[in-house]
Amino acid sequence: MSDQVFGKVSDLLNEIESAQPATNEELETFRIRFLGTKNIIKPLFAEIRQVPDSEKKAFGQKLNELKQAARNKYNVCLESLSSNGHEVESSGIDLTLPAGPYEIGARHPVSIVMNEMIEIFQRIGFTVAEDREIEDDWHNFTAMNTPEHHPARDMQDTFYLQGSDKMLLRTHTSSVQARVMTSQKPPIRIIAPGRVFRNETVSARSHCQFHQVEGLYVDKGVSFADMKQTLLYFAREMYGPETKIRLRPSFFPFTEPSAEMDAWLGTDTEVTRRLTKGTGWLEVLGCGMVDPNVLENCGIDSEIYTGYAFGIGIERSAMQKYNISDIRLFFENDNRFLSQFRSVL
Ligand code: DAH
Repeated sequence: MSDQVFGKVSDLLNEIESAQPATNEELETFRIRFLGTKNIIKPLFAEIRQVPDSEKKAFGQKLNELKQAARNKYNVCLESLSSNGHEVESSGIDLTLPAGPYEIGARHPVSIVMNEMIEIFQRIGFTVAEDREIEDDWHNFTAMNTPEHHPARDMQDTFYLQGSDKMLLRTHTSSVQARVMTSQKPPIRIIAPGRVFRNETVSARSHCQFHQVEGLYVDKGVSFADMKQTLLYFAREMYGPETKIRLRPSFFPFTEPSAEMDAWLGTDTEVTRRLTKGTGWLEVLGCGMVDPNVLENCGIDSEIYTGYAFGIGIERSAMQKYNISDIRLFFENDNRFLSQFRSVL
């Protein structure tokens, strides 16, 4: 029964919204039907008795909205009829309709997670350094202890600019380390967020473009223990205060010793199982003590200074955080995907 009453209200609302009184006579008919002393809305107020108590309030609001809609429509039409001095031509376009609401944009999930990482490191004194995506081979590779013909260059399949064997799309944000160290003196404590590119086959797990946050700390007496504690702090801020981490020995040309850090996420959900390949451990970042060659390449005395560096992949953390199972979704610009992040700041 109450469904019927609600149905009546929404039918009337539709009628009001689609009404296009284009002459004074039509407008008067509209007024009598919806706003006159014997208007059609009035008797609906009596029907509130048939509505269950829990819905009475909503029903009352609906009726008031209906009245308001009729009044608005009437006023708008009245104004346009009188200001034109003549009747609105029936062109099929109703210029009196109020403009629709603006669609509010949403932050991209990669930006959300990237900003979260930036804030975590800013709280402990890191500042943001950004630099170019089109890099030269020296900053991307040579300075980072990966000279020409070094086999480690094959670790990252590179996009070179057409007709150039020197200019490329940076394969990692480590290139910003070289930019910063050649232009600033220690102490250096920066993070470098940004987009990187690799010539990889696109699949649900990997893409030819993705994002990293690079970290670099160079000063007198910086140790591996400093790095470990900083990364533990990061993991706990990012994944929760109980998070465990592990460091696995690894190899990167620009650090010695090198490690990869995993965070324990468990295997409770399908996404964590997939992202951790069933192990419960998410590969979060690569890190290590800055290789003395890198310091020297950039004009920093490695007898005096030491440092640590790390590079965090952003997409994987974003996938874990928002239960996203396919990395390609980040780059398709599909509004059905993006608009879901509207409520997240
Ligand atoms: N550049 C590495 C990559 O893209 C990540 C990385 C590893 C960055 C170790 C670092 C580091 O700064 O110390 O795979």
